Amino acid sequence: MAASPTDRNIQDSWHDNAGRWTLAVRSGAIASRRAGTDSAIVEAVARLRPAAVLEHVLDLGCGEGWLARRLRDAAGCRVTGADGSAELIRLAREADPDGRYLHADYAAIVADPGCLGGPFDAVAANFSLLDEDLSGLLRALAVCAPAGGLVIQTVHPWTACGGGPYADGWREESFAGFGGSGGPGGEAWSPMPWYFRTLETWIGDLRDGGWRVADLREPADLRTGRPLSLVLTCMAIPAERSGRVTASPREAPASAP
Ligand SMILES: C[S@@+](CC[C@H](N)C(=O)[O-])C[C@H]1O[C@@H](n2cnc3c(N)ncnc32)[C@H](O)[C@@H]1O
Repeated sequence: MAASPTDRNIQDSWHDNAGRWTLAVRSGAIASRRAGTDSAIVEAVARLRPAAVLEHVLDLGCGEGWLARRLRDAAGCRVTGADGSAELIRLAREADPDGRYLHADYAAIVADPGCLGGPFDAVAANFSLLDEDLSGLLRALAVCAPAGGLVIQTVHPWTACGGGPYADGWREESFAGFGGSGGPGGEAWSPMPWYFRTLETWIGDLRDGGWRVADLREPADLRTGRPLSLVLTCMAIPAERSGRVTASPREAPASAP
């Protein structure tokens, strides 16, 4: 399966931004990460215990690999990182020669979920689900981690909405708040397209992809009192119960009381 055109654009921006991104992450230049989103994803994965045995975790869209390294060190689990950017995977391996980092884009994972070498006890996706159509990927993750949890951290829809409409749609990240417009060599960031989802769409898309939201957290920025992000912990819906819900209460037949 080939990557969709939008997925291609997202990946192109990560190809261009790999060096700048790595510097921003490793130098602590991203304020929201310092304020709590880094610890929020680590704690959410750790909360899967004691119900789950966390031996092998997938860091999906791992970037330069900070979360894989942190989970291995803090939670003591084996971690496989996977990312579509060859340069980010090279940087991850350089920082952690004993770690397991795979260059694989989501289309390749959809085509062959076994390519990651699961099964996994948990999947963590930290700000790495950016495309409009996640259905194939979510179903592939359920194959990779049939009994595991899926922990997604994403921008909080109510704050990321900004002045725009609270409606699904494509937006563009300029990275303006990520350490200035210039990278190490003074080059500007490449803008990244990303798909904005409302909370309703997140939960519906996860359900359609075979996952039920078991826990929802909104880590707060203690300075502003506003949510820093949305953290969703999901469990796979058993195949026999994964039928799509077709009628919402608003669409109930006219004869309903
Ligand atoms: C915002 S970065 C987050 C990186 C990392 N999870 C972190 O917390 O620093 C998004 C990551 O998702 C990866 N990504 C986005 N779309 C992808 C795709 N279709 N296939 C593989 N990786 C993808 C990018 O290469 C990038 O590393």
